[in-house]
Amino acid sequence: MNIFKTARELSAYLALRQREGLSVGFVPTMGALHEGHLSLLRKAKAECGLSVCSIFVNPTQFNNPDDFSNYPVTIDRDVEQLLGAGTDVLFLPSVREVYPDGHVKKQYDLGTLETVLEGAFRPGHFQGVCEVVERLLEVVHPDVLYLGQKDFQQCMVIRRLLELMGATDQIRLSIEPTMREESGLAMSSRNLRLSAEQRTKALALFRSLNRVREDFFTTDNRALEARATQELEQDGFAVDYVALCRPADLAPLSDKQRPAVVLVAASIGGIRLIDNMVIE
Ligand code: PAJ
Repeated sequence: MNIFKTARELSAYLALRQREGLSVGFVPTMGALHEGHLSLLRKAKAECGLSVCSIFVNPTQFNNPDDFSNYPVTIDRDVEQLLGAGTDVLFLPSVREVYPDGHVKKQYDLGTLETVLEGAFRPGHFQGVCEVVERLLEVVHPDVLYLGQKDFQQCMVIRRLLELMGATDQIRLSIEPTMREESGLAMSSRNLRLSAEQRTKALALFRSLNRVREDFFTTDNRALEARATQELEQDGFAVDYVALCRPADLAPLSDKQRPAVVLVAASIGGIRLIDNMVIE
């Protein structure tokens, strides 16, 4: 695996390999890698000539400074896992390398995607995501960008970013299924902070998404959301939202149109978890 720390060297290397005819599959991450990340990297490796991973804990997307400083960093283990997944290239930039001109705030027009659900609870978060992803895409110039459905709203936001960048013809977006523990808990770097007891309690998220899906055709949408919220609260969660939405713009679902998506965000012991399920 080739490891690059500067944007200039990485861009030059990848441009050379692309001229030789290799396609580039890119998986941006913030590290603390788990099977969810690795599934994206394996897909990139299977479909493209070169699989490229970036690890960068992006300060501009954290609306909560404690969340940023508590974000797990496990770089030696990450490198080992990347080697195991046959990843070809790792980009490990510094903050200066990603934001050479300091933090120049650009405004991305994300429409209502910016203000609903995660947007409402994490002000500025998606602007920060767009800022870092645009910069990474400029450096890597991938043919395919791999994202996880786990962060459903982020996928919709980045799809919009590609449109804003006029890059939809050059970069194919591939959204991959959420990897789960055997118990059903969605894999997440934040799970590292859960105690054994909290981890067991956290299964309630997956359970409630499944129940919404099972009862989708027989129960009113708002009633489904209210019941799931109540159940999660009984399990000790502080619930930010349970929402049945139209996938493309995450507008509240007013009928039984499909595909639909049910999204949840809730905290247990101060650790905030998100998950979602598509209803086909
Ligand atoms: P991070 O949380 O590290 O996630 C990197 C990628 O892995 C994202 O596309 C995310 O959706 C995907 N992923 C996380 N958990 C997953 C799971 N259980 N199954 C499948 N895929 C999963 O998302 C970010 O980093 C950042 O916001 C980033 C896009 C890198 C910009 O900083």
